[in-house]
Amino acid sequence: MTINHFPLLGLFLGAPLLAAAQQPATEQRITTLLQQMTLAEKVGQLNQYSGRELTGPASARKDNQLNAIRSGQVGSMLNVRGVQDTRAIQAEALKSRLRIPLLFSLDVIHGYKTIFPIPLAEAASWDLAAIRLGAHVAAREAAAAGIHWTFAPMVDVGRDPRWGRVMEGAGEDTYLGAQIARARVLGFQGEKLGGTDAVMACAKHFAAYGAALAGRDYNAVDMSSQQLWETYLPPFRAAADAGVATFMNSFNTLNGVPATGNRYLQRDVLKGQWQYPGFVVSDWGSIGEMVPWGYAADKADAAQKALAAGSDMDMESDAYHNHLAQLVQEGKADVALLDEAVRRILRKKFELGLFDDPYKFSNEKREKQVLNDPQNRLAARQVARKAMVLLKNDHQTLPLRREWRRLAVIGPLAKSKRDLDGSWVPEADTTLITSIYDGLAQRLGPQTQLRYAKGCEVLGESRTGFAQAVAAAQSADAVVITVGETWDMSGEAKSRTDIGLPGVQEELFAALKATGKPIIVVVLGGRPLIFNTIADQADAILLAWWPGAEGGHALADVLSGDYNPGGKLPITFPRAVGQIPIAYNQQYSTGRPVTKPGDTRYKSAYIDAPNTPRYAFGYGLSYTTFTYSDLSISRPQLTAAETVQVQFTLTNTGPVAGEEVAQLYLRDPVASTVRPLKELKDFQKVALKPGERKTITFTLDKDKLSFYNQQLAWVAEPGEFQLMVGSASDDIRLRGKVELLP
Ligand code: NOJ
Repeated sequence: MTINHFPLLGLFLGAPLLAAAQQPATEQRITTLLQQMTLAEKVGQLNQYSGRELTGPASARKDNQLNAIRSGQVGSMLNVRGVQDTRAIQAEALKSRLRIPLLFSLDVIHGYKTIFPIPLAEAASWDLAAIRLGAHVAAREAAAAGIHWTFAPMVDVGRDPRWGRVMEGAGEDTYLGAQIARARVLGFQGEKLGGTDAVMACAKHFAAYGAALAGRDYNAVDMSSQQLWETYLPPFRAAADAGVATFMNSFNTLNGVPATGNRYLQRDVLKGQWQYPGFVVSDWGSIGEMVPWGYAADKADAAQKALAAGSDMDMESDAYHNHLAQLVQEGKADVALLDEAVRRILRKKFELGLFDDPYKFSNEKREKQVLNDPQNRLAARQVARKAMVLLKNDHQTLPLRREWRRLAVIGPLAKSKRDLDGSWVPEADTTLITSIYDGLAQRLGPQTQLRYAKGCEVLGESRTGFAQAVAAAQSADAVVITVGETWDMSGEAKSRTDIGLPGVQEELFAALKATGKPIIVVVLGGRPLIFNTIADQADAILLAWWPGAEGGHALADVLSGDYNPGGKLPITFPRAVGQIPIAYNQQYSTGRPVTKPGDTRYKSAYIDAPNTPRYAFGYGLSYTTFTYSDLSISRPQLTAAETVQVQFTLTNTGPVAGEEVAQLYLRDPVASTVRPLKELKDFQKVALKPGERKTITFTLDKDKLSFYNQQLAWVAEPGEFQLMVGSASDDIRLRGKVELLP
C-alpha cells in the first residue's frame, strides 16, 4: 500500500507521553519500574504463553513455562482459567525479582460459562443494549473466574460467507459493525478498567482479516486504500474510541505486508494518527509466521520486524523471548521501542489494579456466586430470542397454531445440545444447554404430543432415517425440522467452498414436504447458508444461528408466539457460492446495469442466476406488519455545517406487538469515486404495540455524506444524495433526496 497518506498527528511515542500527563502517578511508577528492569525482564513482559497444562501433570513444557514465569520472563498467559489455577500461577509470577503480576487472557467470545448466541447472531438483533448485555455477562463471569482480558470483540467486517470466522463478527456492514464494536467494548470493559465485573477487551484482527482472499482463513489480503479506510478500519476506530484496552493484529498480509509486521497499520495509523494508548498483541504465532510467509528470514528477523512495526506482545511464537534481547544488544532492535512496548503493557496492569492487588480477580466465593447466578441464563435467553430472524412465514404458519396437537420434531439438530453453543466456547458448561426438542416440550406441555425422528445426520449420505421421519410427519399436524451446521463447521480454520446445507438435509426436507403437512424449518449455523429448495418450498423458516445454551428455550418462545421475532440479517445470504462477493454495499450500478429481471445480454449479470441474493442484508420478518409513511426531510438543501432531519411514521398495522428495525440508506449518485448503490447510514429498533405509531427521526450530517476520495481525504462532495428508508436493504419503503451545497 502507498504508505502514509495522512500527516501523523504525533509520533508513536506521543500516546504514552500524553497519557503520562494525564496520569502522572501511574506513568511515574512505570518509569521507576522500567529503570529497575533488566533487558531480559523487559522482554519477558512482551512474552505470552498458552498454559492449559500449567496446573496439570508434569511435562517439560510445564517446567519450562513455570521457570520462565518465576524468572520474570512471561508477561501474560492465555488459556489458564478459574480462580484456583490463575491464583496458583500468579503466585509463581510473584516469586520473580520485581513481582510483576501476570495478565490472564482467554477467548471469551460469546460467554464464559453461560453461552450467548454467536456474535453474528447477536448482530442480527441490531439491539445495541442486548449486545452490550451479552458482553457484560460474559465479562462478569470471566472476571469472576480469574480472567483479566478477553480476545474479543472481533470487529473484522466479514463479507465472505465462505470464511468461517464470519460467525465471530458483526457481519458485512461497516456502520452496524462500528456500533456493535463500541457496544461490545463497553459491555466487556464497563466504563473504566479495574472493576471486578469487567475484563479488558481486544479489538481484533488488525486489520482487514475479513477480506482474506477466496474466503480462505489465514490468507493474503489485497485491497485499495479507500476500501481499507472506508470499510475495514472504522469498526477498529470505534473500538479505540470506546477505550478498548488492547488490539490484536492478524494472520493476513495487507497488500504484501503481514499485518504483524505492518508498520503502517500499527505505528502510523493506530499508535500515530489515532494516538492509541493500549497495546497490540500478536495473533497466535503470527510473528513466527512471517517466516513461512516469506517476509522474514528467520524468527530473529521476524522479531525485529514485528517490534519495529509496533507488535507489542508476542503470543506463542517465542520470537521475542528467544531473540529480542540479543537483537537489542547487537543494536538491531531499538531499546526505546522495547521500553515503549513494556510501558504499554505495564500500564494496563496498573489500570486493572494488579500491582495493588494481584489476586483481585481471585475470589473463590465470587467465582461460585457469579457463575451460578440464574440471571445470566435469563439474559442469554433474552438475547437469543432477539437474535432470531424469521426468513419466511407463508400463510402465517407461525406462530404454532393451538389446534396443532401433534407436532413432528425432526432433524439432526433437534436433540443436539453441543451444536447450539457453536464454536469458541472454551469454558462452556454444556450441561446447561437446553435442546430444541426439550425447549419445545417444556413450553408446549403435555397437551401437545411431540414425535421425534432424527431423519439423518448433518454430514453423510445415509437416508435410512428418512422413512421414520416421514412416518412421524404423516402422523402429525405440522412438522418442525431443524437443519444446519454442526458447531465445528464455522469458526477459525473452518472455511468452506460449499455453503449449502451439508449432507442430505435438504433431501430430508423434500421427503417431509411431500407429506403435505405444514413444514417449519429451523436453520442453525455460524454463517450464511444456501438452501434454495427449502427457501422455495418451506412454509416457514426461522434462522436461529447458533443461539447458545438457552437456544432451546428461546426458540420455543419464538415458535410458540410468546416472543415475536425481530432480527434482521447482518450479512447477505446468497443463492449460489458463485455470487460471492455479494454484500449489499459491494453492489454498483456498473456501466451496464440490469434493468429488468432476465435482462442479461451484455449486462453486468450472470447467465445462470440473478444478481440478487436469496435474503438481503437487513431482511427479517415479524409476526406483525409495519408500514412506513409520511416521509419528511427537514430541508431540501444543506451546507456542510448543517444537518438534515429525515422523519417518517412507523405504524404497527398487524395483530401483535413487535419490533422493527427501520433502516436509512443513502446513495451518492454522482461522485469523484463511484459509490455503491446503497450504504447504511443509520437505524433504529422500535417497539410498537398493535395499531401503535411512532415518529422516527434520523439525522444526517456532513460526515454521513462523506467518503474517502482518491487522495484518501474524507470528503462530502456537493450535489444530490438519494435517501432511502426501509425495512431491509431490498425493501425500501420511502425515498427522498437532499442536496449538499458547495
Ligand atoms: C487465533 C485466533 O485468530 C485469535 O482470534 C485468537 O484470539 C487466538 N488464536 C487465541 O486463541
